Amino acid sequence: MIIIKTVSELEAYVGRERNNGRSIGLVPTMGALHAGHLSLVERAVKENDDVIVSVFVNPTQFNNPTDLATYPRTEEEDCRLLAKAGVSVAFVPTVEEMYPSGAVRVKEFRLGTAAEVMEGKFRPGHFQGVAQIVCRLFELCRPTRAYFGEKDFQQIAVIRNMVESEGIDVDIVSCPIKRADDGLALSSRNALLTPEQRAIAPEIYKALKTGVEYSKDHGVKETHDKVVALVDANDGLQTEYFEIVDARTLLPVEEWEESPEVVGCITVFCGKVRLIDNIKFR
Ligand code: PAJ
Repeated sequence: MIIIKTVSELEAYVGRERNNGRSIGLVPTMGALHAGHLSLVERAVKENDDVIVSVFVNPTQFNNPTDLATYPRTEEEDCRLLAKAGVSVAFVPTVEEMYPSGAVRVKEFRLGTAAEVMEGKFRPGHFQGVAQIVCRLFELCRPTRAYFGEKDFQQIAVIRNMVESEGIDVDIVSCPIKRADDGLALSSRNALLTPEQRAIAPEIYKALKTGVEYSKDHGVKETHDKVVALVDANDGLQTEYFEIVDARTLLPVEEWEESPEVVGCITVFCGKVRLIDNIKFR
């Protein structure tokens, strides 16, 4: 594996591989890698000649400066894990390298209504920042396929919209959520939890699973309220939002029959740490 830190080196590498007709898989990450990230990497390694994994904590997608400042960073360990996983390139740029004229958003991407609900509402500008960095990575890496996790369910929908509106030729591959043995969705932010918070956090997924059972003989609104009540009954957990939505449009449904695929997306504060998860209802 080679570690590339500059855009010019990356472009030279991609140019060579593309000229040789090799397929490229891209896995964008913000590092602090865990088994969730590695499941994407593993799949990319199986399906492509070369795999580039980017490790970059993108400042333009953080709407909360404390969240950005406390975001876990474990670059050396990340590179060790990626080399072991059979990755061709770890792309680990600095902020200056990615944003030579400053880490600001310069254009407005057309991301559709999927970007306006849920995370879009609670983290203004977040998806514009995600689109900015992912679009830039697509331009630089020219991937055949790019891999994203369903843990960030809404992010995949928004990226698909970005790819369409920008006319980018890439296959977006979505990968299932990896969980710890106790059900907690793996997340880099889990590293910020105290042992007490880590012990309570699995109640989020437990509530979602109970919600799915409950939904078999209850309506959407009742199920919604049940899940929120179950989560909030735990000392130290506070639901920010729970929305039961159509899996494609991400718009709320009122009846189960309204859509062929219904997903429940939740955000919960565990102390100051914001955790997200989702589950398929139908
Ligand atoms: P990050 O949170 O590091 O996640 C990188 C990728 O790993 C995302 O596609 C995410 O959905 C996936 N992932 C994270 N936890 C997962 C889990 N438990 N199971 C399966 N997949 C998981 O998402 C981002 O970074 C950034 O927004 C990024 C796309 C890199 C743009 O900066």
